[in-house]
Amino acid sequence: ERSRIFKIASIPGDGIGVDITEAAVRVLNTLSKTVGGFEFEFETFDWSSKAYLERGWYMPPDGLEQLKKYDAIYFGAVGWPDVPDHISLWSLILPIRKALNQYVNVRPTRILAGTKSPLSDCSPSDLDWVIVRENSEGEYSGQGGTSHEHSEHAVATEVSIFTQVGIERIMRFAFEMAKSRPRKKLTMVTKSNAQRHGMVLWDRIFYEIAKEYPDVEIDKMLVDAMTVRMVLNPKSLDTIVATNLHADILSDLAAALSGSIGIAPSSNLDPTRKNPSMFEPIHGSAPDIAGQGIANPVGAFWSAAEMVRWLGEEKAADGLMRAIENMTEAGVKTKDLGGEKNTKEVTDAVCTEIERLL
Ligand code: NAI
Ligand code: MG
Repeated sequence: ERSRIFKIASIPGDGIGVDITEAAVRVLNTLSKTVGGFEFEFETFDWSSKAYLERGWYMPPDGLEQLKKYDAIYFGAVGWPDVPDHISLWSLILPIRKALNQYVNVRPTRILAGTKSPLSDCSPSDLDWVIVRENSEGEYSGQGGTSHEHSEHAVATEVSIFTQVGIERIMRFAFEMAKSRPRKKLTMVTKSNAQRHGMVLWDRIFYEIAKEYPDVEIDKMLVDAMTVRMVLNPKSLDTIVATNLHADILSDLAAALSGSIGIAPSSNLDPTRKNPSMFEPIHGSAPDIAGQGIANPVGAFWSAAEMVRWLGEEKAADGLMRAIENMTEAGVKTKDLGGEKNTKEVTDAVCTEIERLL
């Protein structure tokens, strides 16, 4: 029987994005060789801040068109101190998410075996969340402008756009996600007391869509109070849906509460499957530790597992997650998780475990 071939566009980007993408590619190749039945064909794109500083562009003009030919995109991280962050983000990752209709960003968080939460009495069963982030509009719509930029009369607007279509589709995705999980709970986050238009529309559509999902238990939080609840009562939460900005912030908090930002994965999905989806750890390029070979690759591996799952190889994805957790449980961890291993040692160990286990 012929193997399925998955064409993957790999964009390592900057800083530790390069190290962890290389590690993820190794793990994915080990997985496909060990499990069999599918193979990856990686094409690497040198779209990075380093390249931008040399040649003046991140992506070529037909970059987005090129990406459409792949089955999925694997992304490291973009951003470097010599380039303003709004330039790097708006030259690469945000255009990809928007042009490829990746309107959902899924960010699971849990405490992996052998790791612990900075919360004093939080066991793995107390923190198991999926944050569903709206990934196409809201506060990151890109509308606005600056007038009189270099004078004391400088005026800048940053306009949030919330659309009925955009809200309905993210809500439906979040309800389906909540329904698919054992606890069937969905918490919706807004700031509809102070922001009285877009956030109020979010609230209204949430309650409307909720009628289609009578088996999902729902509640609603204001984003400020949500940070308190995540810290003081993590067990009360399961699936969470929030806007682009709010979920961006809450998912960094979630990652920290689960042990380290270095373990947290994310999937940028086009649920219609007309375009490739993109998988990346949630962390950035970490200039403070770049080039030292010590970045935690677990978030990159978990993101790779989510990619494998999206491509339809569920069993292989589960196997990869088991291999990752067997290693964290055995204490094969980087410094951010309290261990002593470097990126390569963790990667070697996960590859060996895949070969042993699968
Ligand atoms: P960051 O996530 O790069 O780093 C925050 C802190 O977490 C740093 O102390 C870093 O050393 C640590 N850290 C992050 N990932 C780690 C890992 N895998 N293992 C061990 N420690 C890890 O966020 P920061 O510093 O705010 O941003 C740095 C650059 O990355 C900026 O240019 C920013 O715009 C960009 N960025 C890019 C993202 C993306 O490509 N999706 C996401 C977030 C930031
Ligand atoms: Mg973020």
